[in-house]
Amino acid sequence: MKTIFEKANVGAITLKNRIIRSATQEGAAEQDGHITEKLISIYEKVAAGGAGAAITGMVGVDENSRVFPHMVKAYDDDFVSGLSKIVNKVHTQDCKIIVQLAHCGAKANPDNGNKPLAPSDFVLSEDKSAQSMTKEEIQSVIHSFALAAERCKEAGADGVQIHGAHGYLLSQFLSPFFNKRNDEYGGDISNRAKIVFEVYAAIREKVGNDYPIWIKINGEDYVSEGLSLEECLWVCCELDKLGINGIEISGGIGISPESAATRKMSSSDKEGVFAQNAMQVAEKVNASVISVGWYRTPDMIEEWLNKGKIQAISLCRPLICEPELPNIWGSGNRRKSKCISCNKCYDFKSGFGCKVFK
Ligand SMILES: Cc1cc2nc3c(=O)[nH]c(=O)nc-3n(C[C@H](O)[C@H](O)[C@H](O)COP(=O)(O)O)c2cc1C
Repeated sequence: MKTIFEKANVGAITLKNRIIRSATQEGAAEQDGHITEKLISIYEKVAAGGAGAAITGMVGVDENSRVFPHMVKAYDDDFVSGLSKIVNKVHTQDCKIIVQLAHCGAKANPDNGNKPLAPSDFVLSEDKSAQSMTKEEIQSVIHSFALAAERCKEAGADGVQIHGAHGYLLSQFLSPFFNKRNDEYGGDISNRAKIVFEVYAAIREKVGNDYPIWIKINGEDYVSEGLSLEECLWVCCELDKLGINGIEISGGIGISPESAATRKMSSSDKEGVFAQNAMQVAEKVNASVISVGWYRTPDMIEEWLNKGKIQAISLCRPLICEPELPNIWGSGNRRKSKCISCNKCYDFKSGFGCKVFK
């Protein structure tokens, strides 16, 4: 019988409990992507709130990778000193920290004014289109992921997570919805996943065999012509053979309300929206599987933990709303999260945080 509040080995990291703060973009970096005191204080609050680990908001691996200027950039040596300040604060609370490395692909707004890059030419909106990547650009991105991971290790982070979900670059390669290539990076799933395997291998080579590498990946894309569960299972099994340590199962590519990873929840919706898919992955791999999406009560979390082999769950919106929620639950008060999943926390212009319960 698994319980939330017990020590657990998750993705080659020992956690004090099974609650992880899922990657949460804060939009709190400087205009130039540098880590700020404000960002450090957000992590202090998450760690003091009792989560066993925090996965950082996605950090950009190169100058074509970020969605907006206030997203942290990892392609700068200053990143190491900024990140190490976060690491030190978080570690004082016995909370572990994993850095999410991302390239936003077609959804990015490149620093250099170039067009965003994607597996294939893609029109995102009337005024935004992305261009198909050359093989040199693919190799350059892979190298940037590896350099960014090396910086995370140097800063003392406990591990890195490759962002392979939600319709960002690696998810775009995995998804036939975006990926129309006819070279070795497009076509069947073994080709579409090639860049993911190469990113993993390049990171592993830089950080060594003992350093935890996790991935966040969609169980399904929830669009026609999207990544299927069967394909996700295959990719996870291959990554498992290569030695990945943790796999967080999410879903959706954010191209329609139905394909959003952060759909608004209605009262009839069940907690653990992607948990069935996570359970199926967990049946097949040795890596630890983390389930994210719509967990709001400790009872439902423990129910899903004990239905199968899921090792931990991760929370995003509930910890924006109440960073102290793990401590509240740990003290014996097992009430529901106050979060109503309204998604107003996406409004970064008015500052990071819950806009309903201040
Ligand atoms: C404001 C906000 C920022 C997010 N930023 C990220 C991110 O940087 N990387 C990521 O993988 N997911 C991100 N997500 C998605 C969450 O990690 C999570 O997968 C999703 O919100 C579902 O979990 P929840 O129901 O606990 O919120 C974000 C979600 C929100 C609401």
